[in-house]
Amino acid sequence: MSKPAIGIGLIGIGIIGGAVARGLRDRAARLSEQIGCPVELRRVKVAPMDLTRPIIAEFPTDTFTTDDDDFFNTPDMDIVIEAMGGEYPAFNYLERALLSGRHVVSSNKEVIAKHAAELLELARRNNVGLRFEASVGGGIPLLQPFQYDLSVNEIKGISAIINGTTNYILTNMACEGIPFADALRQAQELGYAERNPANDIEGFDSVYKLAIMAMLAFQIEVKPEDIYREGITKLETQDFLYATELGFVIKLLAIAKEDDGDIELRVHPVFLPRDNFLAKVDGVFNAALITGDLVGDVIFSGQGAGAAATSSAVIADALAAAQDVASGVGNRMRWRLGGTKRLLPMTEVVTRYYFRLNVADKPGVLAQIAGIFGDNGISIASVIQKEVNEASETAELVIMTHLARESAVRQAVEALRQNDSIKAVNNFVRVGV
Ligand code: HSE
Repeated sequence: MSKPAIGIGLIGIGIIGGAVARGLRDRAARLSEQIGCPVELRRVKVAPMDLTRPIIAEFPTDTFTTDDDDFFNTPDMDIVIEAMGGEYPAFNYLERALLSGRHVVSSNKEVIAKHAAELLELARRNNVGLRFEASVGGGIPLLQPFQYDLSVNEIKGISAIINGTTNYILTNMACEGIPFADALRQAQELGYAERNPANDIEGFDSVYKLAIMAMLAFQIEVKPEDIYREGITKLETQDFLYATELGFVIKLLAIAKEDDGDIELRVHPVFLPRDNFLAKVDGVFNAALITGDLVGDVIFSGQGAGAAATSSAVIADALAAAQDVASGVGNRMRWRLGGTKRLLPMTEVVTRYYFRLNVADKPGVLAQIAGIFGDNGISIASVIQKEVNEASETAELVIMTHLARESAVRQAVEALRQNDSIKAVNNFVRVGV
């Protein structure tokens, strides 16, 4: 006998939660048609301070509760959507929802990146679904393809711009020639960057999203702390000028690469050749280039954040969960976290590098620098002397290397810093993916 209706509980009524609540209400007829019975938002768990939000007046008063037990005891609540963000108490709510036999949908990258393995196991044991498409790339379908369309491929690589705030800042620094602090301020004024922007600009947000993508791509458990992370705060206007002059664009990339059973996972700024697809993704847009051994390169691109785009993915997950409830299907996870691939330490990564050095402008200095690179097995591809400062008798040197091992580069940087003729290693940035 089919169910008279499918009940949904929602945790959080902030920007995403609000858009989800409205979407479920405004698209109720469409959802009911797709499921074959009504889909109803039964209860919303909110924090006491949320009760003053204007959206509260749009729904019957008894929809909202601030009490955990009251929320979880709601009868006929088949699906729980978590849209509150953060690690705790979101983790406890997800755990409780799964243990109580509800299908779960989450848009929360932090809690999924940090606790996916235990939550997925809990979902399996309680025979319910755990879906989290909206946790990466907002409305862009970035996770489902790994579980379905691309699932027979060996994933060889992922390179992605998955943080809109930093992409907006980098685009502005490149196009307007403005310093980082000004570009950040503009992003904050436009509401892109949060007041405490560290999550975005220090790369944590991208790390969480890469951890989730890599888990699905390689079916391994990835802890965010195992991913090498470098944010965008060290980039200066000169780096953008030289990048442009040399035919590159600077992007904060999330990179996963599989090579012979080893996997590289890293988030850091990259000098990308101007003709690379990702080099053309500007502003708050996100994009991911995924390479599979059968399918080759596939590209996903679109709005990686924002209420409407994110609610699109959350509600689609809720729809899939509702279809399972309607047809009596429990957990249908088609994959296991059983992968055996090894995470390559960052020191073993091999790539090309851009260096910007401030050096004494006198005879023999270039020879000393070449010696330091040579001693560490690093081959120099080009050297350009920029901006001579006659007063201080210093010059800025831009050096591009051939492929080099990260450990060798770190040793070379240490040696450069100890050399009296080298006033500063202003920056070094990895080149290409
Ligand atoms: N802070 C994120 C970004 C959006 O700037 O892309 C949410 O994932």
